[in-house]
Amino acid sequence: MDIQTIRQNTPGVTHVVHFNSAGASLVSQQVLDAQMDYLKKEARYGGYETAAKHKAQLDEFYSEAARLINASPEEIAFTESATVAWQRAFFSIPFKKGDTILTTKAEYASNFISYLYQKKEKEVNIRVIPSNSAGEIDLQKLEESIDESVKLISITHIPTNSGLVNPAEKIGELAKKYNILYLLDACQSIGQYPIDVKKIGCHFLSATGRKYLRGPRGTGFLYANKEVLPSLKPFNLDLHSANWVKADTYEVRADAKMFETWESNLAAKIGLAQAFKEVNSLGINKIWERVVHLSKYLRNELNKIEGVKVTDIGAVQSGIVTFTSPMAAIKLKEALSAKGFNTVVSHKSSTLLDMEDRNLEEVVRASVHYYNSEQEVNDLITALRQIL
Ligand SMILES: Cc1ncc(COP(=O)(O)O)c(C=O)c1O
Repeated sequence: MDIQTIRQNTPGVTHVVHFNSAGASLVSQQVLDAQMDYLKKEARYGGYETAAKHKAQLDEFYSEAARLINASPEEIAFTESATVAWQRAFFSIPFKKGDTILTTKAEYASNFISYLYQKKEKEVNIRVIPSNSAGEIDLQKLEESIDESVKLISITHIPTNSGLVNPAEKIGELAKKYNILYLLDACQSIGQYPIDVKKIGCHFLSATGRKYLRGPRGTGFLYANKEVLPSLKPFNLDLHSANWVKADTYEVRADAKMFETWESNLAAKIGLAQAFKEVNSLGINKIWERVVHLSKYLRNELNKIEGVKVTDIGAVQSGIVTFTSPMAAIKLKEALSAKGFNTVVSHKSSTLLDMEDRNLEEVVRASVHYYNSEQEVNDLITALRQIL
């Protein structure tokens, strides 16, 4: 990887040391330009007219997203966030009283809130599968939890609060063996970790644009396997996701656009298409290799600082690096920010079950991406030593 050129094409790196790609990455100059050019055209020629002229470019969003995850373009829907993508899939599943949802300890708060909502509204059961000693979902316990009532396995691939990578493919084998719907929250894994939906065997995958994909804020997407589409009941129907054919009849679209609505931020969509192109041309395996290298290096250096405790779990660990120190997390984050380093605090309530299990209130999260340099890691360590 030509890190120097990549950094030259990333305007943010000259202003901040960015260890917050798990929050929102720094976008490339090309992602920024694609959006700015499109916005200027909208202002000059009109929004509808610009969209008509750029149809082929807008459609690249679907083909590039599909290419990255080994899906077909008809299986991709554009949304404004990962949460919207996830909810459109989740709430289209026709749950009935007594159905069971299997999930993990490291589940993201918004997902769990929706399970609780369906528990209240539809009287479904939620079964949280314990983790193994490495912190991943325990596959044996997962299999033991499967019975006739299980309708959905819903898993966060890489959680917001630690380096953990859950074994998505092994979970997929069980989903296939027992013919259960499988929803994968890939919000933190897309763009850093190689994802092949055919190998994973998930029926849905939700993701955001702004994190490891390095796309614009306010973007996300849903992958929905074409074979399950006819069995779903999407709730967000409009004149784009469905067709009003007679006074008392409508027909739902047959592709994943059944989860979209007509209006969207097309400049952001163009920006996300550009971000996908960059990931596809760099190669996701190379990106993952570099992210693993940098995050390992950061964890190693953090471990050398007295009082600092790396809190990442999992046999395979991602670019999300978390730690505690004798200083309150928010104070440490602010002190780092004053020195030009972007990090965030991950609070207990974002991943309540996992944080409670591990007796953690909050952790500082310093997430690395391929455009970070070894020098930036060294500088972060020096700054931490000074502050602590
Ligand atoms: C694991 C996980 N899932 C879902 C989300 C929600 O993503 P969005 O804010 O794009 O809706 C996040 C956000 O941090 C996340 O970390």
